[in-house]
Amino acid sequence: MRKFTPLLLLLFCLSLSLNVLAAAGIATAHPLATKAGEEILRAGGNAFDAAIAVTAALAVVEPYSSGIGGGGFWLLHRARDGFETMLDGRERAPLKAHRDMYLDEQGNVIDGLSVDGPLSAGIPGVPAALEHLANNYGVLSLKQNLQPAIRYARQGFKVDEHYRRMANFRLKALQASPAAAAIFLDKNKVPDTGYVIRQLDLASALQLMAEKGADGFYKGMFAEKLITGTNQAGGIWSAKDLQQYKVVEREPIRGQYHGMKITSAAPPSSGGIALIEILNQLSAFPLEKMHDSQLTHLVVEAMRRAYRDRAEYLGDPDYVKMPLERLISAEYAAGLRAGIHPQKATPSELLPGVEKNYPGTDTTHFSIIDQQGNRVAATLSINYPFGSCFVPPGTGVLLNDEMDDFSSRPGTPNVYGLVGAEANAIAPGKRMLSSMTPTFLETKDRIAIIGTPGGSRIITMVLLGALVFQQGDDAERIVNLPRFHHQYLPDIIFYETNALAEQTINQLQQMGHQLKASEQSWGNMQLVIKNKADGSITAAADSRGLGAADIIH
Ligand code: DON
Repeated sequence: MRKFTPLLLLLFCLSLSLNVLAAAGIATAHPLATKAGEEILRAGGNAFDAAIAVTAALAVVEPYSSGIGGGGFWLLHRARDGFETMLDGRERAPLKAHRDMYLDEQGNVIDGLSVDGPLSAGIPGVPAALEHLANNYGVLSLKQNLQPAIRYARQGFKVDEHYRRMANFRLKALQASPAAAAIFLDKNKVPDTGYVIRQLDLASALQLMAEKGADGFYKGMFAEKLITGTNQAGGIWSAKDLQQYKVVEREPIRGQYHGMKITSAAPPSSGGIALIEILNQLSAFPLEKMHDSQLTHLVVEAMRRAYRDRAEYLGDPDYVKMPLERLISAEYAAGLRAGIHPQKATPSELLPGVEKNYPGTDTTHFSIIDQQGNRVAATLSINYPFGSCFVPPGTGVLLNDEMDDFSSRPGTPNVYGLVGAEANAIAPGKRMLSSMTPTFLETKDRIAIIGTPGGSRIITMVLLGALVFQQGDDAERIVNLPRFHHQYLPDIIFYETNALAEQTINQLQQMGHQLKASEQSWGNMQLVIKNKADGSITAAADSRGLGAADIIH
């Protein structure tokens, strides 16, 4: 053993110097959020501190996508010991919620009730998650990490075209909440580009959290304001709801695809299970040798089957028993694969079991790696653009409308066209099923930190990204890859106009597929890649969005 010591020492020094030389990388959906993360990394923070700063900054400058009134999943990798966990800061249904709360007397879903206004809001998880990250993983204080966001909230940010589109889309609902309209609109109208959105109440809320931690949000005067404001406008929140909120650390979902390791989101997200179920089905096909229509057909058939299982089985692990091991097993994938006809679409109605699509860029994802190799992939949401569009007066907190991610009635699609069953029915305190898929991918040469918003299409975007990452594609190409999607119901392949060639479309139609070109592109992928051999980092933000990627030396 002794004679190997000098060699080991050399290797140790080499790896130390690589670590010293290694860069950090960060990709978020907004340049100011990327800057906030960079500021904290430069101040000596690690990736987890930067994740706090980015989460809080996005809450301010991307108010239509995420916020402290919402929830999310933070997938963490600690370099020191390789420990990995998923921080579940998903919203919970209020304790007064009940299964049929969005149905009329005839049992039909009442339009808008789970999407607009205070009744659509779940109990937020972000404040608790930020405190948990700071106390357990960061090296700086929560207070320090919140400073960039507090500054942005006080100084304001400028309205751009994307903000205008989002505000226009949700104008009526924003106008219905005077406190929301006062912050996000200009004299009750969509503000012009260049108009400055200052959020003084939100700055105070963040300042309270900086001083008192999550208690500043979930307890005391601030909590009272949240509850009174919500309930006076028709909500059903109680002090108990806020006091009882807890983040949960969950074991990530893991899989393998042609030697690539996948680590992804666990339930209550369906992301990791569906992603691995699709990859398992595809693993036996020689995709790289196939022409476009054959490849697209097989990928679509695998998507269809995984989304069916999502609808049937998945929900909050604290409330429902799920056959997770089976769903991601090789044997189960082989069974599904056997049902795939090589040349013919399987109509979704022939699968056992149980349209309205909004291919938005609300919800947000960021990816970070620091110099030591700590990683965060986080996808955060307030659901629809500007969430519920409701702000309890005096709080500055835009509440989410994540309740719509429950299945309000078995078989009735939600705003993303997703259907669900008993497993995702509403129950007091339950977490609603999500599609958010923050993911780590690792081949023998490279590590990727990847994710995107996009509602039901999140999983298939991460899937397409994973397939080409495994083939060696670079960060820019992966985030800008044209996309197609199938989610079991509706039984349609949706595609970005540049995703499929005319000939491929014709051949898919001959196989029995229905296709629909999407006028709008979808997703806003943020990706950081580390090259294992030299420690170099590349990062890219989806050109469909406004995001910014940065390498920090
Ligand atoms: O958790 C979910 O699956 C949804 N609330 C995500 C919504 C979303 O990505 C919106 N962006 N288009």
